[in-house]
Amino acid sequence: MRADIIRRIIGAYDDPIVRAYCWARFWVLRQRFLDEIGQYLPESGPVLDVGCGFGLFSLYYAAAGPGRFVRGVDVNGRRIAMARRAAARLTIDNVAYEEADARNFKGDGEVVAAYMLDIVHHIPPDTVPPLLGRLHGCLPSGGVLLVKDVDTRPAPKRWFTWTLDKLMAPATPVRYWSAEELGAALRAAGFEVRRHAMLDFLPYPHILYIATKRS
Ligand SMILES: C[S@@+](CC[C@H](N)C(=O)[O-])C[C@H]1O[C@@H](n2cnc3c(N)ncnc32)[C@H](O)[C@@H]1O
Repeated sequence: MRADIIRRIIGAYDDPIVRAYCWARFWVLRQRFLDEIGQYLPESGPVLDVGCGFGLFSLYYAAAGPGRFVRGVDVNGRRIAMARRAAARLTIDNVAYEEADARNFKGDGEVVAAYMLDIVHHIPPDTVPPLLGRLHGCLPSGGVLLVKDVDTRPAPKRWFTWTLDKLMAPATPVRYWSAEELGAALRAAGFEVRRHAMLDFLPYPHILYIATKRS
């Protein structure tokens, strides 16, 4: 059933290159990982996807949780246009997309949860702590921010991921955070932090931070 959602989402994009990217992305963050991340998302209420790209995962979590309303923001207007078109084609109406730069995110309105999937390493490092602070401000006490990113260790896995990042988007800056560094930034923003190691047979040093707003 959920694999069917993934197939339907990929089929909603016209461009074969985008479809190939989607297959690759859903292969990297495949069903098992989507479930590992999704278990921490509330079943209902407004959820924010920061750096949603083409909307793959916002569409997935919206389709898998009809009680959610997922709002995706991304700095890339073309990706946002494609996300909107895919949502319309799939008649998934519990999503909305907005072209916006996360660095200017003001935190308008409360959400029950927010997530960032492979975004932190693409944002200038000095802009990450203020963004975490503003996301903290959008959440209720006990609300959760999920950050899936790439650890700096072990080094061979980091180099593998760096090579793929550079192949996918050569001009996009990449700066990975160590688990200690990003954990400390989340704690400084007011979160309690747990780490969930997403162990993969592929050489990705995935790491999921479950950051809960302290009461
Ligand atoms: C590796 S892609 C991940 C996209 C999506 N989260 C996913 O997992 O498929 C990184 C995304 O971050 C977006 N991005 C980079 N800098 C951003 C910024 N300052 N504000 C919002 N989005 C940004 C890019 O446009 C791109 O769509």
